[in-house]
Amino acid sequence: MYRVLYRKWRPQTFADVVGQEHITSTLAHEVEIGKISHAYLFTGSRGTGKTTCAKILAKAANCLNPIDGNPCNECSVCKGLDDGTILDVIEIDAASNNGVDNIRDLREEANYTPVHTKYRVYIIDEVHMLSIGAFNALLKTLEEPPAHVKFILATTEVHKLPATILSRCQRFDFHRITPENIKGRLLHVAENENITIDDDAALLISRIADGALRDALSILDRCSGISSHITSEIVSNAAGLAGKDYLFELVDNINMNNPSEVLSLIAKLHNDSCDMERLCSELINHFRNIMIIKTVKNPQQLIVCTDIDFELYKKQAEKTTLFKVLSCITTLEECAALLKSSTNKRTQMEMSAIKICIPDISSDTSALIARIENLENAIREGKIVSAPKTEAVTPANKEEPKPVEEKNEETPLQSPPSAPADEPSPDVDTLFTGWGEVLTKLDVTDKPLLGILGNSSAYMRGEFMLIKCDNPIFSQFIRQGNHANAIKTAIYEVTGKKFRLGIYKGEESDAKKNDPLADLVNKINNL
Ligand SMILES: Nc1ncnc2c1ncn2[C@@H]1O[C@H](COP(=O)(O)OP(=O)(O)OP(=O)(O)O)[C@@H](O)[C@H]1O
Ligand SMILES: [Mg+2]
Ligand SMILES: [Zn+2]
Repeated sequence: MYRVLYRKWRPQTFADVVGQEHITSTLAHEVEIGKISHAYLFTGSRGTGKTTCAKILAKAANCLNPIDGNPCNECSVCKGLDDGTILDVIEIDAASNNGVDNIRDLREEANYTPVHTKYRVYIIDEVHMLSIGAFNALLKTLEEPPAHVKFILATTEVHKLPATILSRCQRFDFHRITPENIKGRLLHVAENENITIDDDAALLISRIADGALRDALSILDRCSGISSHITSEIVSNAAGLAGKDYLFELVDNINMNNPSEVLSLIAKLHNDSCDMERLCSELINHFRNIMIIKTVKNPQQLIVCTDIDFELYKKQAEKTTLFKVLSCITTLEECAALLKSSTNKRTQMEMSAIKICIPDISSDTSALIARIENLENAIREGKIVSAPKTEAVTPANKEEPKPVEEKNEETPLQSPPSAPADEPSPDVDTLFTGWGEVLTKLDVTDKPLLGILGNSSAYMRGEFMLIKCDNPIFSQFIRQGNHANAIKTAIYEVTGKKFRLGIYKGEESDAKKNDPLADLVNKINNL
């Protein structure tokens, strides 16, 4: 009769267990020195050796001739336990025996001494499935079991166990098995089963298995049913990795922000009976692979795919930004959660697809960043040459009766001629007494400028109005057409005359001379 590979190749000794040395060495040592705890708890992800180690431990504890803490697998007890003629190692599946009554039966039975062995061992698998009542019923026995009773509890979901149970057990955490260790075991099994397997095929299986040796052996089983020479293509087909072209096509169009094509692809998949939840999770995984490529130095180890697909992922990664990828994953994760309760899964999926194709309609941070990146890309590609200039419309330049003629204010600002032709007195700076009125007008027409002109005054020299202002950024403001015009207009309204503007450079105050900030700003202004 054919036995599936993972059962046929269940390790029979601690030494045979792969990748859990931190556990097997301790257990073997405890058996060797005869210090076996009364209760163990084996936790960790599935297919990593918990049940296997529980069985080995139960056998080793009872073996008549243990070898370095390992069962000999030869003595009458080992053989009896293997072939089921000795019944003192009891495996209970807590998933189907989770009630108080089941545990009460166990407690009663535990009182009897074992028939053929030193210890009666209870292996309670999936122990997190026990009901609260059953846990409580178990507590007392677990704390002080009869000397001939040992418990080994196993679970993938240790967080579901009550603290009272945890505190009564010696706990061992089983790790995910590394791809290298899985690959080693696969090659070992394949060789003994006369299966030829390519190196990259074994590596691909070990990555797909995600740390679970049972899954790896199951895939090997499936592949060996297809061919006696296993290649990565066979693995890819057997494990359902192949035929994902639609994901690449979808993501190509998402990268190009092409919602209409994405929606028609979704429609096609929907017609082909593709499950939207599965599609969503496949897309998340697809974007996750792109994210890894964009962030990790040697990404191939962290991505489960064939070499050909890896190249395709790399190409897609080049065509998108990390922010876009992260934003897609976030949106799809939200979608995955909503899909669970959605009555119209297709619409839900379509909405999310639109969101990730058109970041403009979403306002969360990542969508905004995606929009900025789109703009940056557009600029880089020359699609946008410069931002359109927005006309600064101030009341001043709306009502401007064109009192100001010169365009270039640089020259008069820096060095007003020492003797302008017009009055008042060409050589003398006369304090302009209407300045307060000008400021009042600016309060209406140019508030920001007024804020800067706080402590200012003005002098007339010929056709120039020279403004004296200590604020170092004033000279910057005055160079901007709209502010200059606002002042000129205000002066015109007060005096009825068109003045040109200048900066008053009379005696500079000591404070200003010594102000390093003012110096710096002046230097920058004069660059
Ligand atoms: N560490 C390991 N070394 C060698 N083989 C292993 C290991 N872990 C799992 N296997 C293989 O996988 C099969 C299943 O392992 P086991 O039943 O011990 O897993 P488990 O951790 O109890 O998983 P689950 O949580 O699903 O019950 C074994 O029969 C064996 O073939
Ligand atoms: Mg198990
Ligand atoms: Zn033995």
